[in-house]
Amino acid sequence: MKIAIGSDHGGFELKAYLKSMLVEKGYQVTDFGPDTSDSVDYPVYAKKVAAAVVAGEAERGILLCGTGIGMSIAANKINGIRASLVHDSFSAHATREHNDANILCLGARVIGVELAKELTNIWLQTEFQGGRHAKRVAQMMELEG
Ligand code: RB5
Repeated sequence: MKIAIGSDHGGFELKAYLKSMLVEKGYQVTDFGPDTSDSVDYPVYAKKVAAAVVAGEAERGILLCGTGIGMSIAANKINGIRASLVHDSFSAHATREHNDANILCLGARVIGVELAKELTNIWLQTEFQGGRHAKRVAQMMELEG
């Protein structure tokens, strides 16, 4: 599976941890930056990762900032994106099964590295259930501008 990953300065360190875990597990990871921990604007990186997912260059995206909130708000502005901010395993599972989320957002200042790894693994391994959820996902997507 191809994964696009990006962060701001708040998520920079977590990006490195997740990236090496994903590469080790055999995922094809494209890092959309940043390349340093200097202060940057999260919408810039949300747009890069979202664009890669919408274009089909990556099947899924992962965005990391301090809270995960800015990244999720920004990514969800892009048509075709269903970005979910996740802090717990139930939500990581449910947002794939029910919402067919294509971008995972995590808050590096909210959760620890080990939890972030666990949530990422759950999210990547959980399939969309379809059925009644497909109708609701279609209804969500009709809300796009
Ligand atoms: C950056 O200081 C911080 O605002 C950002 O990482 C994120 O938490 C925004 O939602």
